[in-house]
Amino acid sequence: MPDKEFVSAPLKNAVESGSVCWEAPSNIALVKYWGKKENQIPANPSISFTLKNCKTTTRLNYVKVSDNSTTSRGIEFDVIFEGVKKESFKPKIASFFKRILPYCSYLEEFKFEVVSDNSFPHSSGIASSASGMSALALCVMSLEKSLFPETEDDFFYKKASFLARLGSGSACRSVRGDLVVWGQHQEIPLSSDTYGVQYPFKIADVFKDYQDTILLVDKGKKQVSSTVGHDLMHGHAFAAARFQQAHDHLSALIPVFEKGDVKQFIKIVEREALTLHAMMMSSDPYFLLMKPNTLAIINKIWEKREESKIPVCFTLDAGANVHMLYPSQFKEEILEFVKNELVVYCENGHYICDEIGKGSKKL
Ligand code: PMV
Repeated sequence: MPDKEFVSAPLKNAVESGSVCWEAPSNIALVKYWGKKENQIPANPSISFTLKNCKTTTRLNYVKVSDNSTTSRGIEFDVIFEGVKKESFKPKIASFFKRILPYCSYLEEFKFEVVSDNSFPHSSGIASSASGMSALALCVMSLEKSLFPETEDDFFYKKASFLARLGSGSACRSVRGDLVVWGQHQEIPLSSDTYGVQYPFKIADVFKDYQDTILLVDKGKKQVSSTVGHDLMHGHAFAAARFQQAHDHLSALIPVFEKGDVKQFIKIVEREALTLHAMMMSSDPYFLLMKPNTLAIINKIWEKREESKIPVCFTLDAGANVHMLYPSQFKEEILEFVKNELVVYCENGHYICDEIGKGSKKL
């Protein structure tokens, strides 16, 4: 049963053609989404920092088709990624269009060209699905807005997040900045399993310009796709306890954000990262996604924190790269630390400097 609120009204007059363009950033989860139910419904709530520099820019060109004969074949489109026609990206986008069609039936009236670029190297081990799906969902919403000009801003962003989620779960947290919650949580009003909402409570200044230096340990393709990974939580011996822990961690973060308690922040964020990997290490089949250099970096960060008292910590995605998080006042010192002690553990010495961002932008 589709989520009625988001089903578009029947189209009266379609525009002939047009073009819309959005940029959307990636995001890094502090409390992780790992495990889902049908239709990309998360098994637990999550919260993330929206990033600023790692982003996807997508232009959606559309032309009205003369008849609806495309319907039976699905939506007709081409994909151009970084200037090159990409057949290999089509299945993912085709399945996105198929999933969102019950909510955006006007898509059938058009054929499309999806022209996309990432600000970060495609083969950097940074997942582009969050920024990519969110940029595309925003383009679709701009098309919807040109067909239904009365669409209000609040609904626009809510539905963009809802559609992005159908493309890739965590993408729904990339539409807005700067801290976004996805998944129902008892203490977060208006939180939802079907779209992301901006964190509604007080955030101390220290967290408003937090830095994320991404240390690229392994730039290869992900060893386990997130689809396979989420699936491993079905029947996982520790699943129920893990889902409860995510709720508890999100509750515990509320006073942390309010008071600017970086010490407690570190405890929760690092525990989340290690729990995510512990889940993969204890699933059936099991996976070890950290590399020796991931562990070397984690130990270096712990040493640095101990010796300098700088509240620097790490988090991980479902891979070997390390996101190093710290308050902006320590930027220079931490970048020195990266150059002197951590680049040796990065593939080809590569790392990316990012920070918390304000969300997507229409271009
Ligand atoms: O959005 P997906 O299905 O690629 O899953 C993302 C999962 C993690 O990045 C590991 C955690 C998260 O909450 O972003």
